[in-house]
Amino acid sequence: MHRPSPILTAVVALAASCGASAARHAQADPLPVTGRHSAEDQRTVVRLGDPRLLAGIPGAGPLELEEIRGWLTDPATNAPLTLELPAWLRPGAGQVKELADYPLTRGRIELGRQLFFDPRLSADSSVSCATCHEPEHGFTVSTRVAKGIGGQAGTRNPPALLNRIMLSVGEDRQFWDGRATSVEDALLHALADPTEMNAEPTALVDKLTGIEGYRLQFECLYGDVSWDAIGDAIGAFVRCLVTGDSAYDAEVAWRSYRNLDPELLAEDADLAARRTSAREATSRNPFLESARRGERLFFGNRAWCSACHNGVNFTDEGFHNIGVGLASPEPDLGRYRVTGRDEDWGAFKTPTIRGAVHTAPYMHDGSVATLADVIDWYAHAGASNRNLDYRYRWIERTSLSRQDRDDLVAFVKACSGSLPAVAKGRLPR
Ligand code: HEC
Ligand code: HEC
Repeated sequence: MHRPSPILTAVVALAASCGASAARHAQADPLPVTGRHSAEDQRTVVRLGDPRLLAGIPGAGPLELEEIRGWLTDPATNAPLTLELPAWLRPGAGQVKELADYPLTRGRIELGRQLFFDPRLSADSSVSCATCHEPEHGFTVSTRVAKGIGGQAGTRNPPALLNRIMLSVGEDRQFWDGRATSVEDALLHALADPTEMNAEPTALVDKLTGIEGYRLQFECLYGDVSWDAIGDAIGAFVRCLVTGDSAYDAEVAWRSYRNLDPELLAEDADLAARRTSAREATSRNPFLESARRGERLFFGNRAWCSACHNGVNFTDEGFHNIGVGLASPEPDLGRYRVTGRDEDWGAFKTPTIRGAVHTAPYMHDGSVATLADVIDWYAHAGASNRNLDYRYRWIERTSLSRQDRDDLVAFVKACSGSLPAVAKGRLPR
């Protein structure tokens, strides 16, 4: 997934040197992630979604320098990782974009985690990424918009930072209007935005260099503290935020085993065991009858939600006008502001529905309060404007009954997986 590059070789050599003095320091718990190595490049294979990746440096309270030194001298911290997608995202492996400059390592993911939760990254040390991307709300906020530095309210609802690693189809387009070119580009924009964190690159690099715990980590993992390295480390962390298995995923897995020939199962104990575990997964996380009806609507030609919410992450990464917010006197024109093309007038990026249970309120302006209201939006025939997507009109004409709407809500809920568990503390002093 991460192709070696010349820069990478240099970085690996550098990282290896942090391990050289291992004998001098107490080792951190090495937490081997899988212990497996991929045959071709000897990298450690790690399952994305493994909570140990996001659990922080082992221990409690603020990070002490000795703990950081121990962590950095542990070879596992610096071993380049190959990420293995969880089963439900695997069919979308082609959507994962390679990181050009730096290979993913546990050290970089962990440094990114610390930076994500650290308000010292903002000009007045009051706002962190997590202020607007709260872990307990699917890495967005539970209000319409979020507040940045000095209490300044934004105009858009922060997107849920879930399964971002899957969001790189072809040209990488981040933000509701696609104006950022990568996860790193988007987050550095947020960091520098005067209404969000107002960080000035040189000042922030100096500030982090002055925090010994950060300086040690940057020097070991990147050679130096730099704006680029800050972006890379936080990006590495964001790429690891994936949703867990959903009731729908368990159901889909079960369907591939359900009708297997009993004779075949009698002969193949391994297959039989996998069938049993797939059945158990559906009983732990049941796919309800209502969701089953909702599924037919979602993918079928009556509601046809999958015209836009498709692929393993339920988004085409495209921009569509479904009429949200356009009735206001000064509407946000979305993608049109970036391209100036008529077809982009009032269009916004299709969001994933994989975390939807946790991410209310909805839409780019946070104007829709609940999932039931979202479905009503599609059925309400009030979104009319000069560029309304024809697929929206299709749903509108279908006249979904009350039952249909409830079933669609049930299906969207069944597609929501659990949120990644992340350590919020354990920052350098
Ligand atoms: C003041 C609130 C605020 C802060 C602080 C903030 N963000 Fe955001 N973030 C937003 C909003 C709002 C958007 C959507 C912007 C848009 O579409 O124009 C966004 C978009 C993003 C995106 C693009 C997601 C997508 O689906 O396209 C990423 C990635 C991101 N933020 C990461 C971060 C990181 C990492 C930090 C910390 C360095 C951060 N943000 C700080 C509010 C914030
Ligand atoms: C024409 C493409 C298209 C179709 C068809 C479509 N959607 Fe959407 N969906 C979008 C876009 C674009 C947004 C975000 C709009 C905005 O914020 O302005 C969205 C937003 C959502 C959201 C809110 C997610 C969030 O995090 O804010 C949910 C839930 C949703 N759609 C479910 C559905 C369901 C269910 C259907 C079928 C009834 C459907 N969509 C049909 C494009 C589409």
